Amino acid sequence: MELILRLKEFYLLEILQVEYYKAQVDSSLDSYIHNAYERMVEHEQEHANFFVQVLTQHNQNVPTITGGLARLAGYFLGEALDFTSPANRYKVGMALEWKAIEMHRAFILETWKYPDICKKLWHNMMDEEFHLLWFKDQMRHSPA
Ligand SMILES: [Fe+2]
Ligand SMILES: [Fe+2]
Repeated sequence: MELILRLKEFYLLEILQVEYYKAQVDSSLDSYIHNAYERMVEHEQEHANFFVQVLTQHNQNVPTITGGLARLAGYFLGEALDFTSPANRYKVGMALEWKAIEMHRAFILETWKYPDICKKLWHNMMDEEFHLLWFKDQMRHSPA
């Protein structure tokens, strides 16, 4: 069933964000940056949990992640992650959030028959938009 495949894909998208932001939590001694990433991890984990819940309701297995973060990022972004500088870390964050927003827009149109899923996708997409805005703002203050 197409819906199940999409739910699994979204679970992986959210896990990618969880793992990427977790990897960034200790990238800065700045409490502001540290707490911003921690909060994003909480949001993305909550998004991922929703897909676990829906997949479980449909008696489906939750996909397991093989090959690590870089492979998962390659699947969604088609490129390797480069987090050698704060600016690059923000660029990857922006790319992830753009991809997530784009995927949410498409899935929202496909889920009109499933109002509970559709509503949650709208809310999650707003979180992704807020994350994107934060990265854009950080980019403005960050040395290249
Ligand atoms: Fe998310
Ligand atoms: Fe996000």
